[in-house]
Amino acid sequence: MAEEDNDDDNVWNALAVILDIDSESWADRSPLHDAACQGRLLALRTLILQGHNVNVSTIDHVTPLHEACIGHHVACARALIDAGANVNASTIDGVTPLFNACTVGSVACTEILLENGAKPQSLVYHPSPIHEATSKGHHGCVEALVSWGADVDMDIPHLGTALYTACICRELECARKLLREGANVQKGKSLDSPLHAAAEKDCTAVVNLLLDFGADINARNTEFQRPVDVAPPSSLTEGFLLLYEATPRLLSQLCRQCVRNCVGRDRLHLLAHLPLPNRVKSYLQHQ
Ligand SMILES: *[C@@H]1O[C@H](CO)[C@@H](O)[C@H](O)[C@H]1NC(C)=O
Ligand SMILES: *[C@@H]1O[C@H](CO)[C@@H](O)[C@H](O)[C@H]1NC(C)=O
Repeated sequence: MAEEDNDDDNVWNALAVILDIDSESWADRSPLHDAACQGRLLALRTLILQGHNVNVSTIDHVTPLHEACIGHHVACARALIDAGANVNASTIDGVTPLFNACTVGSVACTEILLENGAKPQSLVYHPSPIHEATSKGHHGCVEALVSWGADVDMDIPHLGTALYTACICRELECARKLLREGANVQKGKSLDSPLHAAAEKDCTAVVNLLLDFGADINARNTEFQRPVDVAPPSSLTEGFLLLYEATPRLLSQLCRQCVRNCVGRDRLHLLAHLPLPNRVKSYLQHQ
């Protein structure tokens, strides 16, 4: 084992010589990284005052701000941003501080980053903050991302939409948040709809939610199966879907869908301002 480590060192040294890398830039993290990672605000402030570069990054392009966010250290994140840290810094894997804040469910870090101009969504093949927050059930982060302009219907080829992720991960609150914000209830991953995913996972609560938002019970996936066909045999969800099929839709529910469709995704937030009785408004907003 020790010999292997030695070999690794030799390879690195050789690489450093070939690529002319300054050993400081890749060999280790900076004192700023350590302070940010451990949430040591005083040390961090002192280092900044001493003139350390807040944008210093490791060979993988991890910055102190990445460390502060993955550690949920809001005050450190703020100090770094105030000192001019790059909020859009991206590691070689495309991970941003915002993605890290979403991984750990730090709503405060998520908001500070967004308020300071971090871009709310990733490029298609990069790690996506909204998918990450959704998969971990961090609905506060999902809400912040959407209110700062992240696209609720962003579709990543290997993941599908965030709503699809919520269904796969059985994250009811995240699914609810996305749907209330106008996520397309039919848009999943390729031909697999969110309802297919929730049915397959036997998650009746999410299935019920999707149907409430008008999910198509007859949608076909690539194998030409309907959601009820992919639900585990004799499961609660299969029974629920069979019963749903046999029951006429409520007129109030159909009207709500119709109104929401007419209003359109980008104006759903205006529902609250319509001159309607509060109960009707709440109903239209699925509250
Ligand atoms: C850090 O990087 C950002 C973005 O590249 C830049 O705007 C900012 O001036 C840099 N801050 C410092 C202190 O170098
Ligand atoms: C971060 O990136 C976004 C999108 O590229 C850009 O609009 C924004 O100005 C950047 N923020 C900062 C503080 O540079």
